[in-house]
Amino acid sequence: MAPGFWRGKRLVITAGPTREALDPVRFLSNESSGRMGWALARAARRRGARVTLVHGPTGRPAPRGVRAVPVTSAREMLAATLRAARGADAVVGAAAVADWRPAVLQKSKIKKSGPPPTLRLVANPDILKTLSKNRRGVRPRLAGFALETDRLLDNARKKMTEKKLDLIVANGPGALGADRTDAWILSATGWALRHRGTKDALAGRLLDALGNRP
Ligand code: CTP
Repeated sequence: MAPGFWRGKRLVITAGPTREALDPVRFLSNESSGRMGWALARAARRRGARVTLVHGPTGRPAPRGVRAVPVTSAREMLAATLRAARGADAVVGAAAVADWRPAVLQKSKIKKSGPPPTLRLVANPDILKTLSKNRRGVRPRLAGFALETDRLLDNARKKMTEKKLDLIVANGPGALGADRTDAWILSATGWALRHRGTKDALAGRLLDALGNRP
């Protein structure tokens, strides 16, 4: 890696789940714990980067020295990430963004007395895709994660191409909520590196690879 690549660089990380409200007391969400995003934020700080962590509800205190931007929904995460990414050197998408949201947000609590509601969902915006569409040249560098239950490497490579990322981390559902992970770091230029170990160590390897983008 270029010595000290991250020193003084601006890195934006998305982390944790998003919540998509159905009514004032109910929402759709997922099992994301935010562990990976927090590990990335700590590793980037250790390397001297200026870090913005745009995160959904995780209940975790912000890592020391990191600017935390708490959000709730995918649309809020998109707006906060686009704002933070202006002039940034890199963005890593570690958030488990909800792919869909309820088409209608009910203003009042849905009562049990009525018939069971039928949920109609609409697609949420894709944050990394929006960033790569707006990218001018090679900045910011972009990395994401692919959570796959089938055809791990094929699906992850496809995702990296579709989202025009420099790197993608491919992992299985076992990664959700765990401290350790069995993952692959894949690069758009074709190399692949397997990581079996902690998310802290994976965060370091991902940043080193992204700082050293081939
Ligand atoms: N991501 C994003 N915006 C979304 C959905 C995902 O920025 N609306 C990012 C995630 O942060 C992650 C990568 O895209 O870095 C892949 O997320 P994943 O959930 O694995 O893939 P999806 O694009 O949602 O595709 P699918 O659910 O069909 O596998």
